[in-house]
Amino acid sequence: MSILFINGSPRRQGNTATLGNRLLTNIPHTTLNLADYQLNFAQDQRETKQPQWDLTDDYEHLMTTYFAPASDIILGTPVYWYGMTGQLKVFMDRWFDSFSHDFPFAGKRIYLLVIGADQPEIKATGITQAVRYSCDWLEMAFCGTGVVTADGPQDVAHFATLPVSCQALRQKIKTNAK
Ligand SMILES: Cc1cc2nc3c(=O)[nH]c(=O)nc-3n(C[C@H](O)[C@H](O)[C@H](O)COP(=O)(O)O)c2cc1C
Repeated sequence: MSILFINGSPRRQGNTATLGNRLLTNIPHTTLNLADYQLNFAQDQRETKQPQWDLTDDYEHLMTTYFAPASDIILGTPVYWYGMTGQLKVFMDRWFDSFSHDFPFAGKRIYLLVIGADQPEIKATGITQAVRYSCDWLEMAFCGTGVVTADGPQDVAHFATLPVSCQALRQKIKTNAK
């Protein structure tokens, strides 16, 4: 049992980071800020049958060191133009290459945190769809989304309690961690 929180925000101590910390209070975990690493765009090399296997950036290191050993992975992203951030999108695009050289995605549990200023529970549902269908494809178990309305970097820090969707997600993580 190993829990990994992946912060897809360029704000290392913004709402996504704070929400991840609060969600996982007293639950041992590792945090990864994607903004701390270099991630190159995915290249589509399917025609050549050669994996991208790009060793000029940090992607393979992140997958081997953090993603592979994790059983439960929380993906956190602010809403950017009604989708996920570029950091998380590029990271997920690269999963296709990992899949093509047999990375062991299957069986991992994925949870999603979405933080936006403009009715994210209505206007940012595409992020949940993208992650859910990607999980289906990679045979990972999608365990749900916690959605929060927040904008200024301290907004989530000032919440008295977490929204119900996040409390439910925390409960699932705790149950799965047993
Ligand atoms: C480039 C950019 C685009 C954004 N686009 C949206 C959007 O489409 N919908 C929305 O609800 N919030 C949008 N926001 C607001 C952020 O989602 C919001 O400020 C969020 O709390 C930031 O989380 P963070 O502190 O973890 O970075 C945008 C912010 C930026 C910087």
